[in-house]
Amino acid sequence: MEKYVIHGGRRLDGQIKIESSKNAVLPIIAGAILTDEQVVIKNCPKIKDVFAMLDILTYLGAKWSFEDDNLILDSSSIDKCSIPQNLAGELRSSIFMLGALISRFKKAKLYFPGGCDIGLRPIDMHLSALADLGVIISDINGEINCVSNTITGRDICLDFPSVGATENIILASVFAKGKTQIFNSAKEPEIVDLMNFLNSMGAKIYGAGTSTILIEGVSSLHGTEYAPISDRIECGTYLLATAITGGSVQLNNCSAKNISLLVHKLCDNTCKIYIKNDIIHIKSGSIRKNFSFTTGPYPMFPTDLQAQAMALLTVCNGVSVVSENVFEMRFRHIPELIKMGANIIVKGKNAIVTGVDRLNGASVNAYDLRGGAALVLAGLNAEGETVVNNVNHIERGYYQMHKKLSSLGADITRQTF
Ligand code: EPZ
Repeated sequence: MEKYVIHGGRRLDGQIKIESSKNAVLPIIAGAILTDEQVVIKNCPKIKDVFAMLDILTYLGAKWSFEDDNLILDSSSIDKCSIPQNLAGELRSSIFMLGALISRFKKAKLYFPGGCDIGLRPIDMHLSALADLGVIISDINGEINCVSNTITGRDICLDFPSVGATENIILASVFAKGKTQIFNSAKEPEIVDLMNFLNSMGAKIYGAGTSTILIEGVSSLHGTEYAPISDRIECGTYLLATAITGGSVQLNNCSAKNISLLVHKLCDNTCKIYIKNDIIHIKSGSIRKNFSFTTGPYPMFPTDLQAQAMALLTVCNGVSVVSENVFEMRFRHIPELIKMGANIIVKGKNAIVTGVDRLNGASVNAYDLRGGAALVLAGLNAEGETVVNNVNHIERGYYQMHKKLSSLGADITRQTF
């Protein structure tokens, strides 16, 4: 078991590079199997979830390698269209292979996906959309069996702007007969990136980033070299890390427009933030003012930054209200923050946070990716030693978090016990 051992109270100063977006790269890797030609994903983050997706591609028969930070993919020898439970259950993004395999083979078998334990995370919208496209779906002892003679494009209305369902529909309809329109589609920047990636391969997709996306079916896709967008959630996490510890940090390879709500909240919360091209420089003020927020589909406050922002609020003056509207179990970091002296009361979807002067070090447990990151931020502020257990959750989505924080002056080490 791996843990981070942190001695808090150190300012963060210096600069680090933000990786390419985990939540853009994962559906892009699924899309890469839609051609037999070489696909190069530039600056691909070497995080655990990427390797979990590559394990699936290896099982299917694809070949891949890293040349420096560039991931080279060759799907020409894929000869399977089913994914076993041990691979599908490793991450949520295995669900994207359903759409991609159906496009490539007109059939697919997949066990229910895994992913962070932040709610039930059903896949009903994914499956009903695939059925709309003409896929016959049966569930045999938890294994989803899909088969279709022809994928026929049509209008699909989503009850909720689901990120994954939107991306799966795009992947399943790139070779469909005719046009597919997604209404009430999710608008996250990662979906725009998937559209741009697939269009660089010859797909005809329009409107990603709005609530209506059009996919005109094409007969085939060719290879490409593509550089995904930077990780807005990693960027936001390090902005919050600077705010909770004080200091002055420059983040390189950022896209501030994709986390503008957090940037505004931090500027109101007495941080100074300077933005120039893909660089964000944050200077934390001496006094931390509280702020409240409600999570929701983009462009609302991202649910993936809820836990990390809450960690900051535990040491801001005043009372803040955090409302989590996307996942029903995304407060699992709260009992762990309370162990560190935070004053938080949960009432349904709302957490009422009353700021304290400083947190106290404790041994705490990461239960999911972003909740774990929040505990690291809390430890950076806390008096004394904080041990964050189960950091495997964190390393699914953050590349060398402990090394990046150390390079900024934090006292954090990764230990195995
Ligand atoms: C994606 O998950 C992200 N993961 C999540 O990031 C992110 O929190 C989420 O979008 C929301 O932005 C990846 O992109 C790999 P949803 P996804 O479908 O696609 C419900 C992280 O920390 N729903 O938009 O699973 C669902 O239960 C991860 O990087 C259904 O009910 O999110 C949830 O309540 C965590 N039925 C809501 O919709 C469905 O068929 C939003 O889920 C699908 C979803």
